[in-house]
Amino acid sequence: MSLKGKHLIDPGDFTLTELNSIFQLAEKIIENREDFSEICKGKILATLFYEPSTRTRLSFEAAMLRMGGKVLGFSDANVSSAAKGESIADTIRVISSYSDIAVIRHPKEGAPKLASKYSAIPVINGGDGGHQHPTQTLTDLLTIKRLKGSLSGHRVAFCGDLKFGRTVHSLIKTLSRYPDNKFVLISPNELRLPEQIKEILKKDPNFEIVETEDLESVLDSIDILYMTRIQKERFFNEADYVRLKDSYILDKNKLKSAKKDMLIMHPLPRVNEIAYDVDDDPRAVYFKQAEYGVYARMALMALLLGVN
Ligand code: NCD
Repeated sequence: MSLKGKHLIDPGDFTLTELNSIFQLAEKIIENREDFSEICKGKILATLFYEPSTRTRLSFEAAMLRMGGKVLGFSDANVSSAAKGESIADTIRVISSYSDIAVIRHPKEGAPKLASKYSAIPVINGGDGGHQHPTQTLTDLLTIKRLKGSLSGHRVAFCGDLKFGRTVHSLIKTLSRYPDNKFVLISPNELRLPEQIKEILKKDPNFEIVETEDLESVLDSIDILYMTRIQKERFFNEADYVRLKDSYILDKNKLKSAKKDMLIMHPLPRVNEIAYDVDDDPRAVYFKQAEYGVYARMALMALLLGVN
């Protein structure tokens, strides 16, 4: 099995064995980062970000720099030739001769996939519209594996914007491929998980989903609580966003009924959905999760480049 030369557009592009090989390598890197500090010497990562990002872009950059490689790219479509009307197909054709691997974030669903068809180098989807965010899923799964010991047998709740939240779409689809995970979906009625994703989950004969609008009523039964931000930029009108933005605010008081070993995760950025008084609760792991994002991306790039 080799991931060398592959693209990562959707977490479903990789088998569970391939995903596990990424986690295994990431764990080796965590144990001994120095051993990996030169493995990408001479390699260049291109970061093509047509949408805002802090963690995804910088953790990719940190990951490449920590492996001894170099980075080029842009973080604003307005400073790239996209502003002049260049297609993503032409951009990636050219970038393929400037770099060895590329990560693309784009507001249009499917843009990284289209780019991958014209690319001579591995393309990684860094988030495409409200669709998928596979490297956040690698980050999330590595976090769960490290902190819970396994990727199966969990009751996982997703709370917030399940309609537009691409991190949710990628993570729930992937967790459903591991045995015995059960899901609780907590969202306002208008922001429920899209039907086409539920259809995919229903293919599992042991499929179990509870849907509710009420976070507090289910909090005591959850192993992993995945909080998300209401995705302001995907709303058609401001008034709907304003009405829904504070639907859920997790605070210290609400956590009294939660399990003592529940994980509180969040892909970040947080806006209002987790009060600051939760941050020092030992169950709050979202900053640890952001740190694991660097190791997940190091392992992914090393395997796609075939340098591990
Ligand atoms: C997420 C994203 O961009 O989808 N952020 C991230 O990559 N960590 C989540 C979000 O923006 O809400």
